[in-house]
Amino acid sequence: MSNSDAFISIRNVQKFFGTFRAIESVSMDIGQGEFFSLLGASGCGKTTLLRMLAGFEDTSAGEIYIDGQPMSDVPPHQRPVNMVFQSYAIFPHLNVRDNIAYGLRKRKLTRAQRYELVDEMLDLIKLPGYGTRKANELSGGQRQRIALARALILRPKVLLLDEPLGALDKQLREQMQLELRALQRKVGITFVFVTHDQEEALTLSDRIAVMAGGKVLQVDTPQGLYEAPVSRTVASFIGNMNFFEGRVRRNGAATGAVEAEGLGTIPIPVDRLTRPDGAPVQVALRPEKFALTATRPDGDVPAVPARLNTAAYLGERSHYYVAIDGRTAPVAVSSPNVSRVNGPAQAGSDLWLSWSPDAVVILDPD
Ligand SMILES: Nc1ncnc2c1ncn2[C@@H]1O[C@H](COP(=O)(O)OP(=O)(O)OP(=O)(O)O)[C@@H](O)[C@H]1O
Ligand SMILES: [Mg+2]
Repeated sequence: MSNSDAFISIRNVQKFFGTFRAIESVSMDIGQGEFFSLLGASGCGKTTLLRMLAGFEDTSAGEIYIDGQPMSDVPPHQRPVNMVFQSYAIFPHLNVRDNIAYGLRKRKLTRAQRYELVDEMLDLIKLPGYGTRKANELSGGQRQRIALARALILRPKVLLLDEPLGALDKQLREQMQLELRALQRKVGITFVFVTHDQEEALTLSDRIAVMAGGKVLQVDTPQGLYEAPVSRTVASFIGNMNFFEGRVRRNGAATGAVEAEGLGTIPIPVDRLTRPDGAPVQVALRPEKFALTATRPDGDVPAVPARLNTAAYLGERSHYYVAIDGRTAPVAVSSPNVSRVNGPAQAGSDLWLSWSPDAVVILDPD
């Protein structure tokens, strides 16, 4: 995304709490209508960044622009943003309608106008007719939807959501994820969504910023993060990854390869080799990019002999650990169980481990 498309622009933003640096110079842009997630482990600075967007925290350095306007002198209530917190924070003594209409009380609207807006919201969150229910007569998921409606009724340009599904059980959470995504598409508001759950981020987001220790490590689409991580940290944070010590091999200008421990020499198109001949690299391959077969695959497929250490049957797929010559750590392999009858191979069997050179990710050594 180019700078001019940015709806939210975060430029060299830092945050200190006393001498502790919670955010270490973050710069990134978020597009209008984007579902953008901040993903990272506990304490990496997600909430801090969100609170700076909302204006609940000052920036220690740098600037945040929303819709082209610098935000440093704009107080929270004048920013075109609204925030939904993890603990649904709806008022137990008010009914559903008054909860949703709460933010409208300072606007000059008649009661009929207010009720009409509330009814629109109740349709949107699929709770029509719930206006006069008491807040304590709702399930967790319903309360969460009321909290969303209360934020959406103000028509903010940006909705900031801090782990809004964190308190829900797995099934409800997955259902709410789908609803949240559909809702965001429908209203077209820019969402900045905080989560520490990688699956949730992958499911929901147009793009994700992976954070660690106050830094943004990579901003990319879900597929970009998974298939082309820029570092070992990102690669291990999203999904599972096998790492092999390796070295770049260039044979003149036309052909290139990487040597990887236990896998031998893997041909790689030279335009994917940005490093010089002999440079040490990490060769990374996800478990599902490998295949295990009883015989060596036909044709030009790279393959090495492997011995099966352990197999775990997980229903839709099986996970294997195999030993290969030239490498001490076992290689993790994940295969879909396409056939009903052929169960996983027995531990101790001699098999062939093959992979596609396309699937190889080349990273800097640690
Ligand atoms: N008001 C504060 N004063 C001092 N340190 C703070 C303050 N708020 C946050 N921190 C520290 O800043 C770091 C980032 O905190 P933050 O709340 O942004 O993390 P997070 O990524 O949201 O984590 P979680 O997933 O646990 O909510 C943490 O080390 C935290 O202890
Ligand atoms: Mg947090």
